[in-house]
Amino acid sequence: MASDRVLVIDLGAQYAQLIARRIREANVLSEIVPRDISASEVREADPIAVVLSGGPASVYDADAYQVDAEILELGVPVLGICYGHQLLAQYLGGEVTSTGTSEFGGTELRISGVSAVLDDADQLVWMSHRDSVSAAPAGFTVTARTEESPVAAMEDLERRMVGVQFHPEVSHTPKGSDMLRRFLFDVAGAQPTWTSSSIIEWAVAEVKDQVGEEQIICGLSGGVDSAVAAALVLKAVGEQLTCVFVDTGLLRRDEGSQVIETFERVFRARLIAVDAGDRFMRALAGVTDPERKRKTIGETFIRVFEEAATELADAKFLVQGTLYPDIIESGTSDAAKIKSHHNVGGLPDDMAFDLVEPLRGLFKDEVRAVGLSLGLPEEIVWRQPFPGPGLAVRIIGEVTAERCEILREADAIITDEIENAGLGQELWQWFGVLPAIKTVGVQGDERTYAHPLIVRAVQSEDAMTADWARLPYEVLDRISSRVINEVPSINRVAYDISSKPPATIEWE
Ligand code: XMP
Repeated sequence: MASDRVLVIDLGAQYAQLIARRIREANVLSEIVPRDISASEVREADPIAVVLSGGPASVYDADAYQVDAEILELGVPVLGICYGHQLLAQYLGGEVTSTGTSEFGGTELRISGVSAVLDDADQLVWMSHRDSVSAAPAGFTVTARTEESPVAAMEDLERRMVGVQFHPEVSHTPKGSDMLRRFLFDVAGAQPTWTSSSIIEWAVAEVKDQVGEEQIICGLSGGVDSAVAAALVLKAVGEQLTCVFVDTGLLRRDEGSQVIETFERVFRARLIAVDAGDRFMRALAGVTDPERKRKTIGETFIRVFEEAATELADAKFLVQGTLYPDIIESGTSDAAKIKSHHNVGGLPDDMAFDLVEPLRGLFKDEVRAVGLSLGLPEEIVWRQPFPGPGLAVRIIGEVTAERCEILREADAIITDEIENAGLGQELWQWFGVLPAIKTVGVQGDERTYAHPLIVRAVQSEDAMTADWARLPYEVLDRISSRVINEVPSINRVAYDISSKPPATIEWE
């Protein structure tokens, strides 16, 4: 690939992902690599710079995370952040001290030397550490300090190495992105070539290379990921692509007809629509365990595809809109497995397709930018994410056609009210959840014994973390009274006020 590339060595923190995103926002390709990457693997990857990420460990822990110290001798520019800053100091002969005092949160950074990456004015930065670098290695200039960190930032421009104790990647460090840019462009000499058009060029070449002359099918869900994946494949090998839209019976109100209508308007490719609702309900009968549900849906999906593929296209490849965070969250890196996303972990082993995943290296914001560049309409590009297993992960307990219909009705009301209030753009997702319990109520003079509905609305940048949305009371009130009045099987509405972590966005 022609682009300059930064390797972010993951030292065990979710911060690594955020660092990678910030670097890409500066139009430089960044990839997260595991901490056991060797110096020769780094040399082979030929990065324009290496970043050592933050991490939860102390350099003094018996099992403290290490990296191959020879990486620092390759002549590649290095940026150490937080724990990475301490490792840099330790490996190069500086000193790290466990002072017993930690710094956490917004902290005043005092500039103490001329820096290639920091402004010359004191600034607010975000800190989260216990140990501190107490002496910089020979050759480094100390460029900033804080109350508790005598070496809060240091640099050796000859070796093109920079260490910062604070987290430039978080929004709580207002000048953090500037600092990263200055490291990338002024210290490492990177070129800002990672743009939508270069991503498209690269993905198209990859797809062509992978599939050759074979036929491909693509499952369209209506969501932005599968639409952008399909559009890329279409651009790469148009004639070989057949899109398949499976109505699982687990979709939201009118979703199926909208997807087909948009597809026909925007794409010029073959489309097969399969109505598989009954089949999914049969497969899900009696299934209550969330992971089994996901696996069952993943498996049924693939079987439906296999049939469509052999019947129609004799396809060897299946396009999936898998994203970079899906891969990380499904436990292929350091991050613990949280849920098996059906477009990754839920696929059966004996699947008859090879996967084509043109988005597997991309974050959501990049997918959207690529979608717009490819000419997809805003209504697709800005559509709220909807999980592959659909309403099934929002129906706690057994999924039946009847329970799907109850949730669909309630969910449509929530959407209606959120959109009427003009809140759609501010929220990452909103939806209803149907728990497997009943509650007592009174309507008119009658006692009722019916389902509660849980309303969930969250704000998020990337779904890795999310905050429950502070919806105006009037909107919640309208949702509540409309749902209770219009959906006979629901007699109570609750609002979910949990953030992620510790909760997840979906209930299952
Ligand atoms: P969680 O519930 O893990 O969800 O906080 C994070 C984001 O991922 C979506 N999600 C899925 N998307 N297949 C998908 O394509 C899945 O199996 C799946 N599960 C969750 C969820 O809607 C949220 O945006």
